[in-house]
Amino acid sequence: MNKYNNKVKLLNRESSIEYLPNLSKLLGPEIYVKRDDEGGRGGGGNKLRKYERIIADAIDKNCDTLIIAGHYQSNAARALVGAACQLGLKSIVVSKEMLPNQNPTFNQNGNALLMSLMNTKIIGIGKEDDFNVEMNKVANQLEVKGEKGYIIPFGGSNLLGALGYVDCANEILAQFKQINNNEPTYIVTTTGSGGTQAGLVAGCAIKKVKTKVIGFSVLHKDNTIKDIVTSLSQEIIDKISDKSVLELNFEVNIDFVGEGYGKPTKLGIDAIKTLAELEGLFLCPVYTSKAMAGLIEYIKSGTITEKDSVVFIHTGGMPLVHAYYDIF
Ligand SMILES: Cc1ncc(COP(=O)(O)O)c(C=O)c1O
Repeated sequence: MNKYNNKVKLLNRESSIEYLPNLSKLLGPEIYVKRDDEGGRGGGGNKLRKYERIIADAIDKNCDTLIIAGHYQSNAARALVGAACQLGLKSIVVSKEMLPNQNPTFNQNGNALLMSLMNTKIIGIGKEDDFNVEMNKVANQLEVKGEKGYIIPFGGSNLLGALGYVDCANEILAQFKQINNNEPTYIVTTTGSGGTQAGLVAGCAIKKVKTKVIGFSVLHKDNTIKDIVTSLSQEIIDKISDKSVLELNFEVNIDFVGEGYGKPTKLGIDAIKTLAELEGLFLCPVYTSKAMAGLIEYIKSGTITEKDSVVFIHTGGMPLVHAYYDIF
């Protein structure tokens, strides 16, 4: 077996691609949504695709406890805890406050509530403490007890994690061919740590399609994120494809982050309301709303036109709607 295909099964089917008739009518281009928010344990979301190979690696290394770092509203941590429950592994979440405290229930509601229901161990650390140092301390303590921890990379965005989004690119291209007998002009995604976009970029490059992958950053406000996506997509191509020089057709936009990570924007809140009202779809204030706001602006400014077709990746995060209830 190809070592890069060693996966645990966290997703029981392909996620669907759905046409958004009302949004398409409002804006012009044909817009579809790839429902990566659906399916899987722990409330689902994009991280599960990444964890399929990462957790397989943990199991190969005989680890019994998955260790992840994140703030109290982390989707990545919540989905990991769900996957650990499903697979009978233990999980430990090293947490600290990183987001502005929105409201009195912010650290108990949304993802924090779901994680406590799944009965994971949450270790709170100080705001100034370093996540990597603290996760390593946890791993060392486990070792003393004869247990073995596995540290999940930041955002699940290493080679193994990003390969999950090569799987997604392959799914999209096959599904879109069935629906429209061609390739989408654009795939649009939220970009945080970069693995989701890098996998999509590499997947499209390997398939040699003309589809451009646009990522709207929600974290980095400078070119760091473009460098991360470039080097990770190139690494994927070098590892899994024979033709190592392939064209990377992508863009990372940093104009819709707003004041910063976790701080909702006016355009994002408008996008949440528009998608809820027109399509009954829920985006979140931290991630998907900022990418949808970017997509809407690209269409309004004529960068994306009526002749184009767009697949928007819904990467999940619905619990954040509850955590940020007071912004609506
Ligand atoms: C809902 C949601 N969308 C998008 C992302 C960003 O994905 P990536 O870190 O692969 O760029 C995350 C990461 O936490 C997320 O939770």
